[in-house]
Amino acid sequence: MSGSSLDLIWVVDLITLIYCKLLIKALEGPQAKWRGSVGSIVDAPIDKVWTIVSETKRIPKWMPKVVMKNTTKLCSSKSIVTINGKFPGPTLYAREDDNVNVRVINKVQYNVTVHWHGVRQMRTGWSDGPAYITQCPIQPGQSFLYNFILTGQRGTLLWHAHISWLRATIHGAIVIWPKKGVPYPFPKPYKEKLIILGEWWKADTEAVINQSMQTGLPPNISDSHTINGYPGRVPGCTSQGYTLHVEAGKTYLIRLVNAAVNDELFLKIAGHNLTIVEVDASYTKPFTTDTIFIGPGQTTNALLITDLQTTGKYLIAVSPFMDTIVAVDNLTAIAFLRYKDTLAFPPPVLTTTPAINATSETSKFMDNLRSLNSKKYPASTALLQAHYYNISGIFTNDFPGNLPVPFNYTGNFTGGISTSNGTRLYRLAFNSTVQVVLQGTGIIAPESHPIHLHRFNFFAIAKGLGNFDPKNDPKKFNLVDPVERNTISVPTGGWTAIRFRADNPGVWFLHCHLEVHTSWGLKMAFVVDNGKSPDESLLPPPSDLPKC
Ligand code: C2O
Repeated sequence: MSGSSLDLIWVVDLITLIYCKLLIKALEGPQAKWRGSVGSIVDAPIDKVWTIVSETKRIPKWMPKVVMKNTTKLCSSKSIVTINGKFPGPTLYAREDDNVNVRVINKVQYNVTVHWHGVRQMRTGWSDGPAYITQCPIQPGQSFLYNFILTGQRGTLLWHAHISWLRATIHGAIVIWPKKGVPYPFPKPYKEKLIILGEWWKADTEAVINQSMQTGLPPNISDSHTINGYPGRVPGCTSQGYTLHVEAGKTYLIRLVNAAVNDELFLKIAGHNLTIVEVDASYTKPFTTDTIFIGPGQTTNALLITDLQTTGKYLIAVSPFMDTIVAVDNLTAIAFLRYKDTLAFPPPVLTTTPAINATSETSKFMDNLRSLNSKKYPASTALLQAHYYNISGIFTNDFPGNLPVPFNYTGNFTGGISTSNGTRLYRLAFNSTVQVVLQGTGIIAPESHPIHLHRFNFFAIAKGLGNFDPKNDPKKFNLVDPVERNTISVPTGGWTAIRFRADNPGVWFLHCHLEVHTSWGLKMAFVVDNGKSPDESLLPPPSDLPKC
């Protein structure tokens, strides 16, 4: 192991929120524009749709177009930005080690990028997608070819727009099957079903965030949660809702994606248990639960075994989690699980939802997540341009490795919140091993944060309440089978320790996946230097990389 080891403590939450807000303002640069004005409605002809190129040339090309689409939900219509006119967008199906080529054509009046959330992007940082971090956005009328290989990855991930709040409507699932002939490490499912959770505003989401940024007030909460695009029933309007059709006595693999903008969610299916087998595209030790807890940006694969001799209709409930005083859309979205041969209008079997502030439920779920750690699947281990071309004056390397002024993070905060301004990255030598302690604070209100690190799967080695204790807490570190993920909830008023190896050169974004917190600045970036050999070095930028 040639890498060096780092020990960092960061405070996430409001202080970092404001601190990073300034940080990123500068980072966007003077030329950087967030977006154009609202586009006119271009119709959505579904072109030679999204396809993929595999190394074996098996799969062809995706041609996603970003287009506006008029959509009615909750008895109200608006025009939304979509890929190919779909909400949620098309699913990217691929196999482990496939080479994916997606040319994204921008037909709307907004600047757009697409991020492949959780994809490792070995040496292809140019295709990661966060605007102004690894690329300038694709401008109206322009296109960009995302080109990367799904090296050593299989499972469910998601893709989404990564600029302003466009991901509210530009998102979809990535399904990566194991290589041909390689089985899952769990019983072979009879069928696979995709469930994508989202959030819906009757208003234009760009207007929602713009207004918030201008007034400094929290953005309006969403009007409903969605299940595969359906908001479920709302009094006064008829909505079809989503139905999960099943047969009796079979095993289904449910691929669950939380593509919500700001809300951590619970999912329950009345009368049925779910066996978790994978999170964030890494296999876990199976465990059975009646409730799934999933933050925005996270994915969960679960086996659903249907009853032997049943017909009937069972409620699927998706409800929010919020254990602090922040306003949240507290509506439960519903869908139904429906057995084959069920008569026309049966009364559904109902279920209760967890309390909105059921912290213990979230904790129980997270504590049960362990890496599979089998022989076969061992527990493994626009700034980008400035970095690549060595352009000085864009960023510095002095993002603080420790808090400038330590304080009682989760205690009653009485001090003033002072922030400093700068575009600072944290520089990592190639192959360093990195430990980061993400510390929540009690400033204004403690809150749970799903923190996402681009490109790396990290190990979540411990979490706790209150302040991280560097002396005693390391004794609790799970160095045997910690779960491996790309997005982790830092508990309300607590901390989470993660480790990863910086084995991929580039600039990699770390941010809270509650989009409102990203807007407010809960974000930073690492710059990972090239290694010694060419195959440890960042590839040259693509020729069609968008201009700012
Ligand atoms: Cu899914 Cu930086 O995001």
